[in-house]
Order: sequence, then C-alpha cells, then structure tokens
Amino acid sequence: MAMTNNDNQWWKKAAIYQIYPKSFCDSGGKGTGDIQGIISKLDYLDKLGVDALWLTPIYESPMVDNGYDIADYYQVNPDFGTMADFDELLSKAHQRGIRIIMDIVVNHTSTEHVWFQSALGDKQSPYRDYYIWKDPVNGGAPNNWQSKFGGNAWALDEKTGQYYLHLFAKEQADLNWENPKVRDEVKKVISFWAEKGVDGFRLDVINLISKQQDFASDDMGDGRRFYTDGPKVHDYLQEISEAVFQKYGSVTVGEMSSTTLEHCQQYSSLDGRELSMVFNFHHLKVDYPNGEKWTKAPFDFLQLKQIFNHWQTGLNGKGWGALFWCNHDQPRVVSRLGNDQQYRVESAKMLATSVHMMQGTPYIYQGEEIGMTNPGYTELSQYRDLESTNMYRIMVDEQGVTHDDMMAILAQKSRDNSRTPMQWDDQAHAGFTTGEPWLSVADNYHDINAKSALAEPHSVFYFYQRLIALRKEVEVITTGDYLDLYPQHSAIFGYQRRSETQTLVCLNNYYDQPVSCELPNQLPLDQADYILGNYSLDEMKAVEHQQNLRPYETRVILIHH
Ligand code: GLC
Repeated sequence: MAMTNNDNQWWKKAAIYQIYPKSFCDSGGKGTGDIQGIISKLDYLDKLGVDALWLTPIYESPMVDNGYDIADYYQVNPDFGTMADFDELLSKAHQRGIRIIMDIVVNHTSTEHVWFQSALGDKQSPYRDYYIWKDPVNGGAPNNWQSKFGGNAWALDEKTGQYYLHLFAKEQADLNWENPKVRDEVKKVISFWAEKGVDGFRLDVINLISKQQDFASDDMGDGRRFYTDGPKVHDYLQEISEAVFQKYGSVTVGEMSSTTLEHCQQYSSLDGRELSMVFNFHHLKVDYPNGEKWTKAPFDFLQLKQIFNHWQTGLNGKGWGALFWCNHDQPRVVSRLGNDQQYRVESAKMLATSVHMMQGTPYIYQGEEIGMTNPGYTELSQYRDLESTNMYRIMVDEQGVTHDDMMAILAQKSRDNSRTPMQWDDQAHAGFTTGEPWLSVADNYHDINAKSALAEPHSVFYFYQRLIALRKEVEVITTGDYLDLYPQHSAIFGYQRRSETQTLVCLNNYYDQPVSCELPNQLPLDQADYILGNYSLDEMKAVEHQQNLRPYETRVILIHH
C-alpha cells in the first residue's frame, strides 16, 4: 500500500531526494549501484530528513540511455536487483516514513521492447501502430526534425522502407499516443506500480507525447514547436490522471521540455486534474547563450533572477513547481553557479537556500547535500553519456570544433558531470563500490564525502537538513507570495515572501566579493530575526537596515506580523 496521510497535499511541505541508482551505492562489487545499495543507505536519507525518494528508471533496459530506454515496464533490470529487492526497498522506506516515486518513461520505449520488435519490419503487426511510421520524402527522412541527442529524428526500417520517429536516441522509439491502445498500456503500467504501493511518479519528457499530425518540416527550427506542449497533451494527461493518479492518490511531477508558464499552470492546476507539479528548465539555460547548450559560457545572473520571478509569481495561486538546481542531466550546481574551490561550502549552502526558500517542492539530487562538484574529466574516454559522445562526434568530426575546445565544453556541460559515483567516504572509489566503477569518481572524494560531512557540524549536509526542517516549521515558505527585491543588482539575489502572518526575506550574494543592499523601508525590523545563514550571525542579533554580505553569503530573515 502507498503511504497514507490525512493531508493529501503532503508534498507541498516535502523535500524529495533523487537517486540515480547506477551511481548511488553498489552492494555487490560490480561497479554499478543497485537496490540493495539504496536500502543500505536509508538511515542516511532518513537522517537528512527527506520525505520521498525519486528513483530514475530501474526497469529492464539495454541501458543505451541508462534506463530511459525501457524494454519491459514490468521487470526490474537484473543489474539493479530483483522485484523482491524492490519490494523490500518499498517497505523499508515506508517504515521510515519515506515515500517512493518511480520514473515513468512513456514518450518512447527502447527499440528492444517486444512491441517495437514486433512492429519493426512488419506493417501487419498488431503493434505497428504503437509507434510513429512515415514514408520517405524525396528519398530521405520524412521531415527535418532533430533528435535531442543530435542528428535527424527519423530512422529507417529497411524492410518496410518506412521511417520511425525518435526524438531522443535511435534506440528510443516514440510511442504513438493517438492510438488509444497505447494510452491503455500506459495506464496498465502505472497501475501496476501504484498497486504495489508506490507513492508517486515522475513522468519523463511528458509534454512531448502529442505530436502535430501533419509532421511538417520546421523551416524555423528543429521541429520542437510541433510537438512541445502539443495539441492533445492536456487531454491525454487528464485521461491518465483520472484513470490512475487520482484513483491511487499518487503524487506526480512532469518533466517539461522547453515549456511555457501558461501550459505549466494548466499541467499543475490546483484542482489536480492533470499533475501535482512540474519541472521546467528555463533557469538552467542561463549559461546557454542564444539557446546554445554546447558552448563554454558564463551564466547570465540578471536573466536568472528574471526567470525565477516569472515562474514564482506566475505559478503562485495557479499551479505548483519543483525547485531544483541539479539532476542526472545537469552539471553540479556548485561548479556551475558557485565556486567549487575556496568557497565550495559557502556557495553550496547559498545556492541551496536561494531555491529552498521559494514556493514549490525542493528536489535534492544525490551528492548535492554534501556539495559534490563536477569531476573535471580531461579525456574523452572518461565520458559514458551518449549525448556527450554524440555531440563530440558531431562538433569535432563534422563541424570542425577543436578537440581541446570540445573537452572544455564537455567539462562544463556534459551530463556525466552529475553521474559520477556518490562519494561516501575516503576509501577506494569513495566507498561506492569494491569493484571498478562504471564511471570514474571525482578526485576530490578524499575531502568531499558523506562520512566527513556527517562528522562536521557545519557541513553542507546539516545545512540541507535544516533547510528541509524549516520548510515544515515556517508556513510562509509554502504559502507566501514572491517579490524580487533587487532585480537589477549585479551580485545580490534577494527576494521577499509574504503571507498573512509572516514575511520572509532571503538574501544571497552570488559572487566572491563583499556587497551590500538595503532592506525595504516598510519592513518592521524590530520584529525581525535571522533564522538561517552560512556565516556566523551571532554578533549581529539585531537585523539592520543595511545588509553587508560576505562572499557567497546567504541570510534568511523572518518577521512575524
Ligand atoms: C529526460 C531524462 C534524460 C533522458 C531523456 C530521454 O530528459 O531526464 O535523462 O535522456 O529524458 O528519455
């Protein structure tokens, strides 16, 4: 049974921890993590205080895209363990009051899925119409849509002469959601896991499931405008929600690729007709100049604040968002927006505070709670991610980018930056495995690891523990509105949250120089207290009008009305 709770919106005060099982903890010396490894760390996660775990896909898969290519939705990948291991994890997590959220990938399946295997090469297969097939145009691909991982998004089925659509790798064939049988299969899959007692679902690239049916070439871009937030996506989500999510009371978070606020208000509308909440990625494109990910570039600080302002004010009272910096597709935030050398601890805490004090549900990606960094790989052979290796081939072999420039770009942007093994202690391979890890551990694991974080009262770990607890104690964090106090300030990101009974101010210095700002005049500072900071605040008990922030300093001030 899923965990029950009188409050069916428990997730509004919750923090969710993301586990990338392959890199979390290996119980068997194989070099890859597994479910028993996760079970062995439940006490650690309980100590952190997280309310739920989101597991990235653990189903049967050839692992071309590390499990986002599912070959059987009803089986656990033997690399991760057995169904009995999964049941044990579910019950041991529930015993500790921790919920489990599964990752559901239904925009596409692996080309090794039996449906695709039956459909391939056989126009008469009952599964042919589960996928999207088109005749060639001018002897080539049906249109110019681009795969998210590089190259054209269509692959040829030699035997029938038709092409199938794959918005991701060619081993990930897009499902045809126009076919009601596909939608019924999806309901069956999700119900299977809900029946087991799983508490919720993260829906992979769910806003791409409805494609414009003319499949026209895109003379203005890569095709995304013809399938992003597509024509029937809301109908499809309402159908699945009614049949499964509402029936089981599941929490749901949709991963939304290149979406808009207006669509997200609808996806996460407060009446619960579609999903509980959404992930959007606009704030993580501030280091993509002109939308181009594959460049080495600094981040645009003013744009970052504008984006948060747009989403925080736009979702308030209308929908609900996920708050996050890190996941298995994003580089480590302390390397990306902070300072992973001299101010690693300060900047990790400051960055965490700046999103945890917003409205939404915070997500913590494994290792973020100890301030893990990008590994700084220097050799192409160190990378495993297919997006990274594809882009190397396209940019170096086809577009003439130099090897050195591409290596610098990968060191900043590759998805492998966050997939390196979790750093548990200072033993070989950071205690992740007794074998040879599938992806090399970052060299800094001697200093940065969970064991030393647990032994140090001022560590990033205990700071996250406090942030998670604060959300449950201080009501305005969940309910308050949002006001950006210094939108034009070149170093400070400061915002105010206000409810009927409380006002909270969160100040963050994003750079390594001291800076100052003035609090708004109307705030009654005689009723204000510092409730959190990443430097000692003892010597300044009274909250002053002028705020002088040290490098990467964060301060949270609470006022009771
Ligand atoms: C999502 C996943 C990513 C995966 C892609 C295709 O963006 O987070 O890891 O490669 O979908 O399934």
